Amino acid sequence: MKFTAIEILRTGPVIPVMVIQNAAHAVPLAKALVAGGVRVLEITLRSDAALESIQRISEQVPDAIVGAGTVTSEKDLDTITEAGAVFAISPGLTPKLLDAASKSTIPLIPGISSASELMYGMEAGLTEFKFFPAKAAGGIEMLKSLGSPFPQITFCPTGGISPANYKSYLALKNVACVGGSWLAPKDAVLAEDWNKITTICNDAAA
Ligand code: 3PG
Repeated sequence: MKFTAIEILRTGPVIPVMVIQNAAHAVPLAKALVAGGVRVLEITLRSDAALESIQRISEQVPDAIVGAGTVTSEKDLDTITEAGAVFAISPGLTPKLLDAASKSTIPLIPGISSASELMYGMEAGLTEFKFFPAKAAGGIEMLKSLGSPFPQITFCPTGGISPANYKSYLALKNVACVGGSWLAPKDAVLAEDWNKITTICNDAAA
Protein backbone atom coordinates (compact mmCIF):
# COMPACT_ATOMS: atom_id res chain seq x y z
CA MET A 1 0.00 0.00 0.00
CA LYS A 2 1.12 3.54 -0.71
CA PHE A 3 1.12 6.37 1.82
CA THR A 4 1.95 10.06 1.77
CA ALA A 5 4.13 11.63 4.43
CA ILE A 6 1.16 13.35 6.06
CA GLU A 7 -0.79 10.08 6.15
CA ILE A 8 2.15 8.44 7.91
CA LEU A 9 2.42 11.24 10.48
CA ARG A 10 -1.34 11.36 11.11
CA THR A 11 -1.91 7.62 11.56
CA GLY A 12 -1.27 7.71 15.30
CA PRO A 13 0.27 9.90 18.02
CA VAL A 14 3.48 7.91 18.53
CA ILE A 15 6.09 6.24 16.31
CA PRO A 16 8.47 3.74 17.93
CA VAL A 17 12.08 4.21 16.81
CA MET A 18 13.78 0.83 16.91
CA VAL A 19 17.20 -0.74 16.52
CA ILE A 20 16.48 -4.43 15.98
CA GLN A 21 19.53 -6.62 16.56
CA ASN A 22 17.89 -9.96 15.86
CA ALA A 23 15.59 -10.34 12.85
CA ALA A 24 13.75 -13.13 14.69
CA HIS A 25 12.39 -10.42 17.02
CA ALA A 26 10.94 -8.33 14.21
CA VAL A 27 7.57 -10.03 13.71
CA PRO A 28 6.63 -10.63 17.38
CA LEU A 29 7.77 -7.08 18.18
CA ALA A 30 5.69 -5.59 15.36
CA LYS A 31 2.67 -7.66 16.44
CA ALA A 32 3.07 -6.44 20.03
CA LEU A 33 3.18 -2.82 18.86
CA VAL A 34 0.16 -3.23 16.59
CA ALA A 35 -1.72 -4.93 19.45
CA GLY A 36 -0.98 -1.81 21.50
CA GLY A 37 -2.56 0.41 18.85
CA VAL A 38 0.71 1.53 17.23
CA ARG A 39 0.83 0.80 13.49
CA VAL A 40 3.56 3.08 12.13
CA LEU A 41 6.95 1.52 12.91
CA GLU A 42 10.40 2.99 12.27
CA ILE A 43 13.18 0.42 11.97
CA THR A 44 16.49 2.25 11.93
CA LEU A 45 19.27 1.17 9.58
CA ARG A 46 21.63 0.88 12.52
CA SER A 47 21.91 -2.87 12.74
CA ASP A 48 22.71 -5.72 10.40
CA ALA A 49 19.22 -7.10 11.02
CA ALA A 50 17.39 -3.92 9.91
CA LEU A 51 16.62 -4.80 6.28
CA GLU A 52 15.56 -8.35 7.04
CA SER A 53 13.39 -7.04 9.89
CA ILE A 54 11.65 -4.60 7.53
CA GLN A 55 11.12 -7.36 5.01
CA ARG A 56 9.68 -9.79 7.56
CA ILE A 57 7.30 -7.19 9.01
CA SER A 58 6.11 -6.04 5.61
CA GLU A 59 5.38 -9.64 4.62
CA GLN A 60 3.99 -11.02 7.87
CA VAL A 61 2.31 -8.15 9.78
CA PRO A 62 -0.23 -6.63 7.39
CA ASP A 63 -1.58 -4.16 9.95
CA ALA A 64 1.86 -2.62 10.47
CA ILE A 65 3.00 0.34 8.38
CA VAL A 66 6.72 -0.25 8.33
CA GLY A 67 9.36 2.27 7.37
CA ALA A 68 13.07 2.78 7.80
CA GLY A 69 14.92 5.32 9.90
CA THR A 70 18.47 6.65 9.73
CA VAL A 71 18.14 6.77 5.94
CA THR A 72 21.00 8.93 4.69
CA SER A 73 21.67 8.05 1.04
CA GLU A 74 20.10 7.15 -2.29
CA LYS A 75 21.36 3.60 -1.79
CA ASP A 76 19.50 3.41 1.54
CA LEU A 77 16.31 4.58 -0.16
CA ASP A 78 16.66 1.91 -2.82
CA THR A 79 17.41 -0.95 -0.45
CA ILE A 80 14.63 -0.14 2.02
CA THR A 81 12.08 0.19 -0.80
CA GLU A 82 13.19 -3.19 -2.09
CA ALA A 83 12.79 -4.63 1.43
CA GLY A 84 9.19 -3.37 1.63
CA ALA A 85 9.47 -0.12 3.59
CA VAL A 86 6.63 2.29 2.80
CA PHE A 87 8.30 5.42 4.16
CA ALA A 88 11.76 6.71 4.99
CA ILE A 89 12.90 8.91 7.86
CA SER A 90 16.25 10.67 8.03
CA PRO A 91 17.95 12.49 10.89
CA GLY A 92 18.77 15.32 8.49
CA LEU A 93 18.68 16.40 4.88
CA THR A 94 21.22 16.86 2.11
CA PRO A 95 20.82 17.98 -1.52
CA LYS A 96 21.64 14.45 -2.71
CA LEU A 97 19.12 12.82 -0.39
CA LEU A 98 16.34 15.24 -1.35
CA ASP A 99 17.11 14.66 -5.01
CA ALA A 100 16.94 10.88 -4.52
CA ALA A 101 13.68 11.26 -2.59
CA SER A 102 12.10 13.22 -5.43
CA LYS A 103 12.56 10.12 -7.63
CA SER A 104 11.59 7.59 -4.97
CA THR A 105 8.31 5.70 -4.86
CA ILE A 106 8.05 6.12 -1.05
CA PRO A 107 7.93 9.39 0.92
CA LEU A 108 10.94 10.73 2.80
CA ILE A 109 10.42 12.58 6.07
CA PRO A 110 13.76 14.30 6.62
CA GLY A 111 15.00 15.78 9.85
CA ILE A 112 15.58 19.49 10.43
CA SER A 113 16.68 21.49 13.44
CA SER A 114 16.83 25.04 12.06
CA ALA A 115 14.73 27.46 9.99
CA SER A 116 17.27 27.34 7.15
CA GLU A 117 17.21 23.54 6.93
CA LEU A 118 13.43 23.68 6.97
CA MET A 119 13.39 26.22 4.12
CA TYR A 120 15.77 24.03 2.16
CA GLY A 121 13.38 21.10 2.50
CA MET A 122 10.40 23.31 1.64
CA GLU A 123 12.16 24.32 -1.58
CA ALA A 124 12.09 20.62 -2.49
CA GLY A 125 8.32 20.71 -2.04
CA LEU A 126 8.15 18.99 1.36
CA THR A 127 5.73 20.00 4.12
CA GLU A 128 6.32 17.22 6.68
CA PHE A 129 9.52 16.93 8.69
CA LYS A 130 11.07 15.17 11.62
CA PHE A 131 12.31 17.71 14.20
CA PHE A 132 15.58 16.21 15.38
CA PRO A 133 17.16 16.10 17.92
CA ALA A 134 13.99 17.55 19.44
CA LYS A 135 15.03 18.08 23.04
CA ALA A 136 18.59 19.19 22.33
CA ALA A 137 17.51 21.50 19.48
CA GLY A 138 15.11 23.59 21.57
CA GLY A 139 12.15 21.29 22.19
CA ILE A 140 8.69 22.73 22.56
CA GLU A 141 9.84 26.36 22.48
CA MET A 142 11.62 25.83 19.17
CA LEU A 143 8.57 24.15 17.61
CA LYS A 144 6.36 27.02 18.75
CA SER A 145 8.83 29.50 17.28
CA LEU A 146 8.97 27.65 13.94
CA GLY A 147 5.16 27.56 13.88
CA SER A 148 4.91 31.35 13.53
CA PRO A 149 6.67 31.80 10.16
CA PHE A 150 5.88 28.26 8.92
CA PRO A 151 2.31 27.41 10.03
CA GLN A 152 1.82 25.07 7.06
CA ILE A 153 4.57 22.69 8.21
CA THR A 154 3.86 19.52 10.21
CA PHE A 155 6.47 17.94 12.47
CA CYS A 156 7.30 14.66 14.15
CA PRO A 157 9.69 15.60 16.98
CA THR A 158 12.10 12.82 17.90
CA GLY A 159 15.10 12.61 20.23
CA GLY A 160 14.63 13.05 23.95
CA ILE A 161 10.87 12.46 23.87
CA SER A 162 9.64 10.48 26.89
CA PRO A 163 6.45 9.44 28.70
CA ALA A 164 6.93 12.56 30.83
CA ASN A 165 6.92 15.10 27.98
CA TYR A 166 5.31 13.61 24.89
CA LYS A 167 1.82 14.95 25.61
CA SER A 168 3.17 18.51 25.75
CA TYR A 169 4.62 18.02 22.27
CA LEU A 170 1.38 16.50 20.96
CA ALA A 171 -0.54 19.54 22.24
CA LEU A 172 1.29 21.76 19.71
CA LYS A 173 -0.64 22.70 16.56
CA ASN A 174 2.29 21.86 14.25
CA VAL A 175 3.00 18.43 15.77
CA ALA A 176 1.12 15.43 14.34
CA CYS A 177 2.98 12.72 16.25
CA VAL A 178 6.19 12.08 18.18
CA GLY A 179 8.89 9.46 17.74
CA GLY A 180 10.78 7.71 20.48
CA SER A 181 12.68 4.65 21.53
CA TRP A 182 10.84 4.39 24.84
CA LEU A 183 7.89 2.63 23.15
CA ALA A 184 9.93 -0.52 22.51
CA PRO A 185 12.61 -0.62 25.22
CA LYS A 186 15.73 -2.58 24.36
CA ASP A 187 15.59 -4.67 27.55
CA ALA A 188 11.99 -5.71 26.87
CA VAL A 189 12.88 -6.72 23.31
CA LEU A 190 15.89 -8.75 24.46
CA ALA A 191 13.73 -10.43 27.13
CA GLU A 192 11.02 -10.98 24.46
CA ASP A 193 8.56 -9.37 26.86
CA TRP A 194 6.01 -8.55 24.18
CA ASN A 195 3.18 -7.95 26.68
CA LYS A 196 5.19 -5.17 28.29
CA ILE A 197 5.59 -3.46 24.91
CA THR A 198 1.87 -3.78 24.16
CA THR A 199 1.08 -2.22 27.54
CA ILE A 200 3.47 0.72 26.98
CA CYS A 201 1.90 1.33 23.58
CA ASN A 202 -1.66 1.07 24.86
CA ASP A 203 -0.85 3.78 27.40
CA ALA A 204 0.92 6.02 24.89
CA ALA A 205 -1.53 5.65 22.02
CA ALA A 206 -4.61 6.14 24.22
C1 3PG B 1 17.20 8.03 17.91
O1 3PG B 1 18.07 8.77 17.49
O2 3PG B 1 17.42 6.86 18.24
C2 3PG B 1 15.82 8.54 17.98
O3 3PG B 1 15.77 9.89 17.70
C3 3PG B 1 15.16 8.22 19.28
O4 3PG B 1 15.66 8.99 20.28
P1 3PG B 1 15.25 8.67 21.79
O5 3PG B 1 16.02 7.45 22.21
O6 3PG B 1 15.67 9.91 22.56
O7 3PG B 1 13.77 8.43 21.84
